[in-house]
Parts: sequence; structure tokens; C-alpha cells
Amino acid sequence: MTNKQPTEEAVLAALRTVDDPDLHKDLVTLGMIKDLKIQGGDVSFKIELTTPACPLKDTMKNDALKAVSAVEGVENVHIEMTANVPNDGRTRGLLNVPVRNAIAVASGKGGVGKSTVAVNLAVSLAQSGARVGLMDADIYGPNVPTMMGVEKLPPATADKLIPAEAYGVQMISIGFLVKPGQPLIWRGPMLHSAIRQFLTDVAWDELDYLIIDLPPGTGDAQLSLTQSLPLSGGVIVTLPQQVSLDDARRGLEMFRQLNVPILGVIENMSYLELPDGTKMDIFGSGGGERLAQESGVPFLGAIPMDPIVREGGDSGKPVVVDQPESAVAKALKAISEDLAARVSVAALAQENKIPIHFVGLKK
Ligand SMILES: Nc1ncnc2c1ncn2[C@@H]1O[C@H](COP(=O)(O)OP(=O)(O)OP(=O)(O)O)[C@@H](O)[C@H]1O
Ligand SMILES: [Mg+2]
Repeated sequence: MTNKQPTEEAVLAALRTVDDPDLHKDLVTLGMIKDLKIQGGDVSFKIELTTPACPLKDTMKNDALKAVSAVEGVENVHIEMTANVPNDGRTRGLLNVPVRNAIAVASGKGGVGKSTVAVNLAVSLAQSGARVGLMDADIYGPNVPTMMGVEKLPPATADKLIPAEAYGVQMISIGFLVKPGQPLIWRGPMLHSAIRQFLTDVAWDELDYLIIDLPPGTGDAQLSLTQSLPLSGGVIVTLPQQVSLDDARRGLEMFRQLNVPILGVIENMSYLELPDGTKMDIFGSGGGERLAQESGVPFLGAIPMDPIVREGGDSGKPVVVDQPESAVAKALKAISEDLAARVSVAALAQENKIPIHFVGLKK
């Protein structure tokens, strides 16, 4: 009878054979194994990921389960998956906002789907269990309240605005503070102070991710934001068509000049699937990926065109909530996971001062 209790060393040795697929180091070396307990043949521990939106969560759990189950004396293995999103230190910057990672969604051109993408990324990350905020920095044309189906903020406290909340996402928008339909005419300094107040005068909870929906173009709002809150990175949304790509290139250049790390390019409205299953390229095809390649930045994915996106936006039910099985929602979910993984890898690299190269989860 070899009924002896497995040792901690043996269990850890087994876990040293399991690598984090992005970081290319094993779970023990990365410090991801927490609360290891061994009682008789029962082994339990937590795997602490760098984002709850990790697309390879299940693979890692299964690999760990397999490795530990094979250790002599082990009868039962219980693994809990948790997450602690790293902070790259940038967002601790100027304003002392409790945000671990701030991600801006921009485009050169208007109407390409920035707000739609920002809203659905935020909701998607929240669905995975992350603490997410959404800041509508489109002072001139705020769309976040409508797209999230929220009309007003909860009552403010003496010194802070309380963010609205929907689908697990905390949010702020100038749309909550002005009468609907009223045009807003701001001068640069007013806009600057509005954006700063969205950061400092709002009682944000500690956030893993703050997603920022920027107005179109490369103007004052972008500048104010980067001066107020150092960003973990920026994402550019484009259509596949040439004029949108030209503007997107300007958006990329703006991020470069403002020293904002570029997380990648998202192509929206890539194609429309017709009732007979064929795909129609309304705005051309492949432009976003080409732009990413030419500019030497990651391509984060393509989102098809589908009327349910517009319907969901108008009725305040983001497509990732309302139609999670649709191709659009799946594309948005995959992009949110990829993005979260990239941000965490970059933050870890920064934190540990080690060059970790993101290899990417896509083929
Ligand atoms: N993949 C999609 N399929 C169908 N409709 C879409 C898709 N993405 C966005 N839309 C619709 O296109 C319109 C513009 O989208 P959105 O408001 O998100 O763009 P934007 O870039 O934020 O615009 P602006 O520059 O005015 O801020 C909206 O009506 C939205 O519902
Ligand atoms: Mg918008």
C-alpha cells in the first residue's frame, strides 16, 4: 500500500510543468498558485490569473488538474480560479484615481462604432468578473447613457458624483448632467476641466479597467485625457474602407505622439451576413488588418455588421448582453479577452521590469 499523503514539494513540482500560455513561464514561478492545502489525498489551491477575462482560463485549469492528479497519493483536486489584475503604475499617475488600467477607445473618423465597441467591451469585461468603469469622454455627443439604458445618476454625496451602474459597469457621462437635446458648446479649458472632474469628482470604486469612449478625431478631449490620466493603452476602431483607414492612421499617430501605448486596431462593420449565408463586404475588406500590419501594431479582431447592434444600442441593451450567441457578440467578447490579456501582460512586464513578449492568443 502506497497510501501516503502527497507533499507540497511534489504538488508544486507538478505545477511547475504548467505554463501560462501568454507569459511562457510556469504557474509557480509566476506566483499564481495561492492557498495550497493538502489534507490526506485532497489537494486544493487557487490559481490567481492576471485578468478574470483570461481566454485560456479553462485550458490552464485543466492542465493544472491533470498535472496534480498525476502526483502520487493525490485523490481529489479542487482548483479555484481567481484574478488580481496588475497595475502598470501608469494610472497611479497624476490624479490618484483608483484605476488599475485605463484604456481609451478612439478613431480618427466619426460614426465608426467607437461608442458601441467601448460599451460592449466594458460590459463584456464586467461579465467575466472584472470591476469595470466606463467614462464617456464624448462631451459633445454623449451616447453612453442611451447605449447602456441609463437616464440619470444616483444622488450625489456632498463632494462626489456617484457613478451610474448598469450590467455591472460603473459609468459617467456628460449626458447625465445636461438636458437631453441641448447642444453643448465648450471651449478647450472647460472641456479639460470636465474631463478631469470625471476622474477626480466621481466616487469610482477600485476599478480593474476604466474604458474611455473618446469623441471622434484627434482634438482637445484626447489631449486633456492623456494629460490627466496616463493611459495603459489606446485602441483604434476603423471601418475597412479607405477614408476611415486614413483617419485611423491619424488616430494611431496621435497616440504615438502622446506616448500612449497602442493596444491595437479593431475593424468594425467588417461584413454583413446575408440570409443565404454569403458575406457582403459593405465597406471593403481586410483594411483594418492591413493598417495594423503596416503600422506595426496588433490587429485585435473584426466585428461583423448586424442590425442587432444598432437595435441594442438604441434600446440600451448592449449586444453582448442581449444576444450573447450572435457572431457580433462573440467577436466583441473575444476582443475584450484578448485586450485584457495584452494589458495584463504589459502591466506585468512593467511591474517586474522584465521584457515579456505577448505572443497573442489568435492564430
Ligand atoms: N457592427 C455594427 N453593426 C451594425 N451597426 C453598428 C455596428 N457598430 C456600430 N453600429 C451602429 O453605427 C452607429 C454608429 O456607432 P457609434 O455611435 O458606436 O459610433 P461612434 O464612432 O461612437 O460615433 P461618434 O463618432 O459619433 O462618436 C450606431 O447607430 C451603431 O448602433
Ligand atoms: Mg461615439
